[in-house]
Amino acid sequence: MTSPVQALVLVGGKGTRLRPLTLSAPKPMLPTAGAPFLTHLLSRIREAGITDVVLGTSYQAQVFADHYGDGADLGLNLTYVTEDVPLGTGGGIRNVYDALTADTVLVFNGDVLGGTDIRDVLDTHQKSGAEVTLHLVRVGDPRAFGCVPTDADGRVTAFLEKTQDPPTNQINAGTYVFNRSVIGEIPAGRAVSVEREVFPSLLAQGRHIHAHVDDAYWRDMGTPEDFVRGSADLVRGIAPSPAVAKPCGESLVLEGAQVAADAVLIGGTVVGRGARIGSGARLDGAVVFDGAGVEAGAVVERSIIGFDAVIGSHALVRDTVVGDGAKVGARCELLRGARVWPGVELPDNGIRFSTDV
Ligand code: GTP
Repeated sequence: MTSPVQALVLVGGKGTRLRPLTLSAPKPMLPTAGAPFLTHLLSRIREAGITDVVLGTSYQAQVFADHYGDGADLGLNLTYVTEDVPLGTGGGIRNVYDALTADTVLVFNGDVLGGTDIRDVLDTHQKSGAEVTLHLVRVGDPRAFGCVPTDADGRVTAFLEKTQDPPTNQINAGTYVFNRSVIGEIPAGRAVSVEREVFPSLLAQGRHIHAHVDDAYWRDMGTPEDFVRGSADLVRGIAPSPAVAKPCGESLVLEGAQVAADAVLIGGTVVGRGARIGSGARLDGAVVFDGAGVEAGAVVERSIIGFDAVIGSHALVRDTVVGDGAKVGARCELLRGARVWPGVELPDNGIRFSTDV
């Protein structure tokens, strides 16, 4: 029997804003609160009763298939459609058209952490009779996002680029419901942006696009700052995920990690499998990937430490991304958006900020 609703998750982006972490793994596969980020989203989709899921892949496509296979471990029937050349968000949706069997297709950006009940978004779509429904969230400061005004009936009236003077605080949350036939209308075989081309063109034709608006938890995990905060929110139970067994409190220490008794782990810190945290170290909102080391007396705040990287003793690492296998010398200070490239060895005592090394 044909499943009435299918999901498509777009995971083909290069994740440039999260480099250098995304050189070795695609963004949705980066470890977040003990699981690849995508596992949290797939678990929410499964929880909503949807089992048929297509992954729209491109960058490092094989990594997804190697990890998830046919999806049975998550109770899903997973299929993969790969773009040899990335086709953008709209092109990626069009590219899976032939793999779609259901009339209603839920589309997710693969880097969004959300708390909205997916079934409610589907209900809104079905009740309004729209051809497309957009999930919108209300945010405190909409200037960093494209914003989406609606009329009194909840119909979308415009799809606006980022502006310093947004007319509404409703932003595009990166989850859409499409009637399958609309996907067939997207131009095939070339790059298309769903935000810049597909939605504005449907609105210009007077087509019915509806909004599902709420104030649920929502975070786009595209930047280091958001990735750190989203990870901490999963650990502390602020962001709901069926893939995190229970709220963990101030920190989550994964199997095989060694943490000195007098180390301090707070702010939703995650210590990856086999990682080592030395005596007197202080980690606040840190994301330490598997196999990494933080030596005695070091301080790591709101930063991501890549696989097998080492932070030397008494170093200070704040708002920084340290690439896989990098070594940060003793007493180094890395501040305000510094990014250390994989394998780089920084000598003791250096100070770096807001720069790539
Ligand atoms: P940045 O390079 O840092 O902007 O990240 P990104 O490449 O992931 O782009 P963005 O955050 O705008 O993408 C939103 C979602 O769409 C992510 O889940 C991406 O994986 C996905 N995506 C972006 N471009 C493509 C594409 O060309 N094809 C497919 N299949 N997915 C894409």
